[in-house]
Amino acid sequence: MTKTEQQAVAILVPGQFNDHAVGRIDGAFSRVRIEGADPSLVTDDMRRTVRGIAAFGGISAALMDALPKLEIIANFGVGYDSVDVRHAVQRGIMVTNTPDVLTEEVADTALGLLINTIRELPRAEAWLRDGSWLRKGNYPLSRLTLRGRHVGIFGMGRIGLAIARRLEAFGLPIAYHNRRRVEGLSYDYHPTLKGLAEAVDTLISVAPGGAATERAVNAEILSALGPNGVFVNIGRGSTVDEPALAAALASGSIAAAGLDVFADEPNVPAALLAAPNTSLLPHVGSASQHTRRVMADLCVDNLVSWFSQRKALTPVPETANVKARP
Ligand code: 8YV
Repeated sequence: MTKTEQQAVAILVPGQFNDHAVGRIDGAFSRVRIEGADPSLVTDDMRRTVRGIAAFGGISAALMDALPKLEIIANFGVGYDSVDVRHAVQRGIMVTNTPDVLTEEVADTALGLLINTIRELPRAEAWLRDGSWLRKGNYPLSRLTLRGRHVGIFGMGRIGLAIARRLEAFGLPIAYHNRRRVEGLSYDYHPTLKGLAEAVDTLISVAPGGAATERAVNAEILSALGPNGVFVNIGRGSTVDEPALAAALASGSIAAAGLDVFADEPNVPAALLAAPNTSLLPHVGSASQHTRRVMADLCVDNLVSWFSQRKALTPVPETANVKARP
């Protein structure tokens, strides 16, 4: 396909999308905008022309079916649980994501969130800013410390490994649970999440979303962490039973939680907002201008490579064998 032919290829961009990615899509393709990834918004023209989607949110089977010419969904993000990949495979649609380029940023955020949760740094800053330091004196000593902790990582993929490397530098012992043992890794492996939670007092979840991990972090897992337990989630909110987490925080079954992700974003359960022992972030794991720009580039590079070379750069494993139509 020549560059001019490629510029005629229609790429659907539902809802808000990264500015840099939009600029690149406009330069390389013909961008088609809709308010959201809603099949009822698909027009006849889109039905006839759209061959690719650049996705920042969920892409349903119904949306795929509304677009018979659809060949590729380029997901902006490493996690692609909101894309119905099973349906994409059945339809022979390529799905790509943005691995590697956000690994270190998300790992940095995870460590920040862990420290914020344990040493109460956001609350200590608020104490300074609201004049309490002047009026009331020193901020109270934090109840919790990172010292002496034993950290468990749920999900030992690229980001889990990057978090573990950082924790090693903090001098903390590490164990993990993953679908499979990671070859060549010396950290203690636990074949069950319960086993990991029993062995550690600090659990960091980097697990992907989807049916296999749905509400995996439940009351039983939290209580296994114990009353000094800390739970940090930088993966997906769907992996947590949020009412059980709120109850565990209220009863002292665990000590504190740090959350960057929630089951129904941007809605955050009132009980988690009100809890004094939570540190909460609005899903900012990868959200720096630098990292979002490289994610945007990889997202669009996948579209360009698909239409110019007929090959995706970073297909998700499930669609690795999907071939471009002749
Ligand atoms: C995404 C993320 O940017 O990559 C992921 O999986 O969670 C974020 O970094 C966000 O999900 C938007 O798609």
